[in-house]
Amino acid sequence: MQSLLIKGGVPLRGEVQISGAKNAALPLMAATLLTDEPCVIRNVPELSDVKFMGRILQSLGAEVEISGNTVRVHARKIKSVGDYELIRQMRGSVCIMGALLGRLRRATVSLPGGCVIGARPINLHLKGFAALGAKIAIEAGYVNVTAKKLSGAEVFLGGRAGSTVLGTANVMMAATLAEGVTTIESAACEPEVVDLADFLIAMGAKISGAGSPTITITGVKKLHGAEHEVIPDRIEAATYAIAAACTNGSVVLRGARADHMHAILDKMRESGVKVERSGTSLHISRKGKLKPVDITTLPYSGFPTDAQAQMMVLMALTPGISIITERIFEARFMHVSELARLGADIEIEGPSAIVKGGKPLSGAPVMASDLRASAALVIAGLAARGTTEVQRIYHLDRGYENIDGKLRALGARIQRVDAK
Ligand code: EPZ
Repeated sequence: MQSLLIKGGVPLRGEVQISGAKNAALPLMAATLLTDEPCVIRNVPELSDVKFMGRILQSLGAEVEISGNTVRVHARKIKSVGDYELIRQMRGSVCIMGALLGRLRRATVSLPGGCVIGARPINLHLKGFAALGAKIAIEAGYVNVTAKKLSGAEVFLGGRAGSTVLGTANVMMAATLAEGVTTIESAACEPEVVDLADFLIAMGAKISGAGSPTITITGVKKLHGAEHEVIPDRIEAATYAIAAACTNGSVVLRGARADHMHAILDKMRESGVKVERSGTSLHISRKGKLKPVDITTLPYSGFPTDAQAQMMVLMALTPGISIITERIFEARFMHVSELARLGADIEIEGPSAIVKGGKPLSGAPVMASDLRASAALVIAGLAARGTTEVQRIYHLDRGYENIDGKLRALGARIQRVDAK
């Protein structure tokens, strides 16, 4: 296993290129299963999750070629049963179900397990499939979804935490090849859902309303191959923006989509961070003292849960009391105990973390747990005095392309080492 060794206290300065969005790339790769013609997806981030999704598509019989940031998939002939072990290991693979159901009228995948941030149920995905006419059977750890016929339907996909991103993606994909019109109410509005809809439309699907809570899909007989470029990763951009602020640096995020980041940028400005937009770049710097802010994570266009841990580090450095409430996942405070090792003073009260900010952080060995918590630990290490070792960084490599290389280019003293 590898660790990142970070000598903190260096203000980040310079430019960083934002990569394609992981959470767009995974459903886009799944969507290539909907056609027997070749597809090309560009600006795909080089991540272990992308490679993993490639292996899953290959296990279904698709030809997959990943070279640099371009993924070519030709799902000429595919089977409906995914590799149990492969699928079980990556939650994002659940989005192959909608494509398999649309293309083959059946899908068999291992029930995606929970993870450290929550139970991660798929009841809403299955509710959508059933609305389209599918039969659902769960046996021996597999979910079997079969349909003699897929018929358009109206389905409400809102759950206890609001909309579901991959649930919306799954039902939208299956509905593209159903007979008739499907309306998804309480659809997820995330940019990654819009990016998927754009790709499906390029493949010949008839979709309107993506990005709004009501998406209408008129089924077609067949979809054809298409090419697509993945949108920039708004969470990666947020991560580097917050790292710049935490180190009192000055960083230009090249290719960041400010229009996908309103809630994040609004909270950063409220906390005293300077955010300047020029074309498709964002310049992040500090102006004066930081101020504490309260944050509640919500479905898009609210503050994203995937930037909650990173923002908590900024608040830990900010004199005063900040309250961060996590409304999307039931266990997304794994980073709190690790941040405490670095000197952060944070108390958890139910769904909220009370951050008593302003104490300086000092380096220590910490353990990564989930993707975004790991990013928060890296940011904290960059801001802390002394050396921080972030262990188990395979979590990071799932969702951040070349994070140590990008940070070194911004002046960070960071290196990847094999854990002792
Ligand atoms: C996507 O996960 C993202 N992953 C997550 O990013 C992100 O945190 C999440 O959306 C929320 O924005 C990918 O896109 C690969 P949800 P997804 O279904 O779609 C509950 C990261 O760090 N729910 O929107 O799985 C669920 O338990 C990852 O990049 C049900 O109850 O999330 C959660 O509380 C982490 N029943 C809430 O909805 C369901 O059937 C939102 O989950 C589905 C979801």
